[in-house]
Amino acid sequence: MKLLHIDSSALGAQSVTRELSAAVTARWRDAFPALQVEYRDLDAQPLPHLTGASLSGADAAGNAEADQAMDQFLAADVIVIGAPMYNFSVPSTLKAWIDRIAVAGKTFRYTEKGSEGLAGGKKVIVASGRGGIHTDAPSDFQEAYLRQVLGFLGIDDVEFVRAEGVAYSPQHRSEALAKAHRSISQPVLLRKAA
Ligand SMILES: Cc1cc2nc3c(=O)[nH]c(=O)nc-3n(C[C@H](O)[C@H](O)[C@H](O)COP(=O)(O)O)c2cc1C
Repeated sequence: MKLLHIDSSALGAQSVTRELSAAVTARWRDAFPALQVEYRDLDAQPLPHLTGASLSGADAAGNAEADQAMDQFLAADVIVIGAPMYNFSVPSTLKAWIDRIAVAGKTFRYTEKGSEGLAGGKKVIVASGRGGIHTDAPSDFQEAYLRQVLGFLGIDDVEFVRAEGVAYSPQHRSEALAKAHRSISQPVLLRKAA
């Protein structure tokens, strides 16, 4: 079984989502010692934005990086995504990664009946961090967006480990983090990867 661990926070050691994504990944490693883990830090090594040059093939170096990201995504059975809320959505580095894994003919396609996700069978755990409180609110363009785009790719098994209200006060932050750690679910062997 392969796990892809992704971080996108720009806040380094202060990051809530880096702490939570590492904890989720550690739980999976403990449960399955033979688990193969790959790590991608989108803040330290961002993928290039998708541009006209990417689509026309003129940006060969950028497209080679994107192909590698796609292969890594397709090979993963479990994906742990550290996803802070930045300006009500996800960091642009995470969006740049999504732009490279959402590719017609590879991870989705359109048919006469509508769209069809081609990347099903994966489990995604999103480590979510937000300064304010947005659960079930119209201001949530972060978790709702991730659920939408992952579902579009055929991935419906999506869990959120959430610390929110972390900017309200140090006490809010530590209580939200403790609650998020307690909410991490027990890893289960995925049938596809067994
Ligand atoms: C650039 C930036 C933009 C932010 N935008 C929002 C926002 O729109 N709504 C919100 O509730 N919190 C916002 N925050 C607070 C973060 O969501 C919060 O600090 C969270 O812990 C970020 O996760 P991280 O610590 O892993 O980076 C923002 C923080 C930064 C640095």
